[in-house]
Amino acid sequence: MKIINVVGARPNFMKMAPIIDQLNKHPESFSHILVHTGQHYDERMSASFFEALGMPRPDVNLEVGSGSHAEQTARIMVEFEKVCLTEKPDLVIVVGDVNSTMACTITAKKLGIRVAHVEAGLRSRDMSMPEEINRLCTDVLCDYLFTTDRFADENLRAEGIPAEKIFFVGNVMIDTLLKHRELAARVGLVEKWGLKHGAFATLTLHRPSNVDDRPTLVGILDALREISRTVPIVFPIHPRTRKMIEQFGLMDYFASTEKPTGIWLTEPLGYLEFLNLNMHARLILTDSGGLQEESTVLGVPCITLRNNTERPVTCEVGTNFLVGTDRDRILDVARSIMEGRSKKGCVPDKWDGKAAERIVEILSSLRLIENIN
Ligand code: UD1
Repeated sequence: MKIINVVGARPNFMKMAPIIDQLNKHPESFSHILVHTGQHYDERMSASFFEALGMPRPDVNLEVGSGSHAEQTARIMVEFEKVCLTEKPDLVIVVGDVNSTMACTITAKKLGIRVAHVEAGLRSRDMSMPEEINRLCTDVLCDYLFTTDRFADENLRAEGIPAEKIFFVGNVMIDTLLKHRELAARVGLVEKWGLKHGAFATLTLHRPSNVDDRPTLVGILDALREISRTVPIVFPIHPRTRKMIEQFGLMDYFASTEKPTGIWLTEPLGYLEFLNLNMHARLILTDSGGLQEESTVLGVPCITLRNNTERPVTCEVGTNFLVGTDRDRILDVARSIMEGRSKKGCVPDKWDGKAAERIVEILSSLRLIENIN
């Protein structure tokens, strides 16, 4: 079976790495190439992850870069179509919910190529999120839908997707976390920055709904400033967020000390460095999807700065609190966590480091090539 694996943006890399590892264990069954769309291109948003995760360099980089949604999606489609026509794969594997995921799915399907979606079925029910549109379009087209939890299976079935296309395999992002946990523990960033275990918070913030709207961003920053009087907050800042904070003139919120105090900005961190911080944090604050899952597995309380989540299992089973963006509500929940009223949390079913193994086993058992012919 000839496969094209697709990645485009930062959260894709941790999801694809274990799949490539597993495919490499079966050279008699699979040949595969890696296509990077170039949606993320800065060293700290892209190349550094390949190195940390031991991923092969992409065989093809489409170098599409940034743009409006239509521009970016269209550029990916035009360039990816050429690769598909040259390579003639039997299967394309896409992961996650970024523009690259959707663009490559549409392109491949229109050429009659089968597509597998890893992390299928997640739904926020919020159509103002570009990712929700990407998820819906991807899942309706894909032939094989690999899910992380039972909620996702239910979502897909409720949308009329036949049960035989849905495979509950677990969470590939957690495969990567469990594989790198010990290595990350030895990175020593917490000590290097003079932080104390369990006495600091980490923060990520990049959703357009949070960072592109000044009043929303100010409300969040007000709450964070209060929290940072109790514990310093380390904030590896996404390029999009930095741009907006500078544009809105909000740099005064951030400490300009050498070591973490207050809300403390740093450039985007590498995978192992950020995992090193998160595993020792008292609290994680985020609007990202992946971090809701990672905090659940690390057993660290997570405040999600959004009104909805496509990952409800992290709230129902894990350590996640869906809090929204209201200043007072964020402070209430943060206070109660600091006072020890957190959730104990469990690790969801099949988040055990073997999701990619299950995916590759299932792919081995599919008679894909015969089906296509
Ligand atoms: C994208 C994904 C989002 C994911 C996030 C993780 C979509 C619709 N969004 O959002 O789901 O959670 O990645 O980071 O696919 N930029 C740089 N350097 C880079 C990449 C981006 O400076 O390497 C800046 C550019 O100004 C760009 C902006 O960030 O316009 C936004 O990048 P884009 O890829 O469009 O979306 P993200 O916000 O990163």
